[in-house]
Amino acid sequence: MAFTIEMLYSLVILLFCSLGNSLSSNYYGKTCPEVESIVAKVVKDATSKDKTVPAALLRMHFHDCFIRGCDGSVLLESKGGNKAEKDGPPNLSLHAFYVIQNAKKTVEAVCPGVVSCADILAFAARDSVVLSGGPTWYVPKGRKDGRTSKASETTQLPAPTFNISQLQKSFSLRGLSMEDLVALSGGHTVGFSH
Ligand code: HEM
Ligand SMILES: *[C@@H]1O[C@H](CO)[C@@H](O)[C@H](O)[C@H]1NC(C)=O
Ligand SMILES: *[C@@H]1O[C@H](CO)[C@@H](O)[C@H](O)[C@H]1NC(C)=O
Repeated sequence: MAFTIEMLYSLVILLFCSLGNSLSSNYYGKTCPEVESIVAKVVKDATSKDKTVPAALLRMHFHDCFIRGCDGSVLLESKGGNKAEKDGPPNLSLHAFYVIQNAKKTVEAVCPGVVSCADILAFAARDSVVLSGGPTWYVPKGRKDGRTSKASETTQLPAPTFNISQLQKSFSLRGLSMEDLVALSGGHTVGFSH
């Protein structure tokens, strides 16, 4: 389970770059100062009961961010005629959604209507890496939750059959370099794969 520290630091830098300037460090400073410690505790408790939780949350964050940006759209349920991202083909092994739901519920009890699910998922992914023995990083805050989630758009995720040029293209469409691709692939240090 040894993370390559350099890889994960690159991940931090890339998250800063790809998220732009609209996020801030003190976004919840007045409205929900405890949010990060609340989420960290929920993730820690869930992990103590199920060791597969951290890998699930890290991958969930990646799937969220690659489709429509980090907007929580991976968390939405299918409704009516609309099939949501989580019901798209690559979702089949996404799991531990209940951990984000618990975190959101716990946060809502302390600061109702303030913190986005997208931010909670971003915190939880970071906490997951820390719990797995990796480094920590600073998560800028203020993501807004999207209301659109389409299973059909999950074809925009890189497929396991992709060769290197296809992977590079998929990442560059999101402003991510070859270096980012290599660093982020370090995420597979944890978890399972068929
Ligand atoms: C480079 C393109 C990527 C491809 C093609 C890819 C593909 C996959 C595949 C096929 C699996 C196994 C799913 C299964 O067997 O059901 C997997 C698992 C996983 N991926 Fe990726 N992935 C990519 C990038 C990433 C990134 C950027 C991250 C996060 C930094 C990530 C984190 C994970 C994790 C943590 C798992 C294990 C999930 C678990 O155990 O629940 N992947 N990935
Ligand atoms: C993923 O999608 C499949 C097929 O659309 C669905 O049956 C399944 O419940 C979904 N899994 C999760 C974890 O949402
Ligand atoms: C990768 O696959 C694409 C599409 O099948 C193909 O056009 C390209 O030449 C391949 N690149 C490499 C490096 O194999």
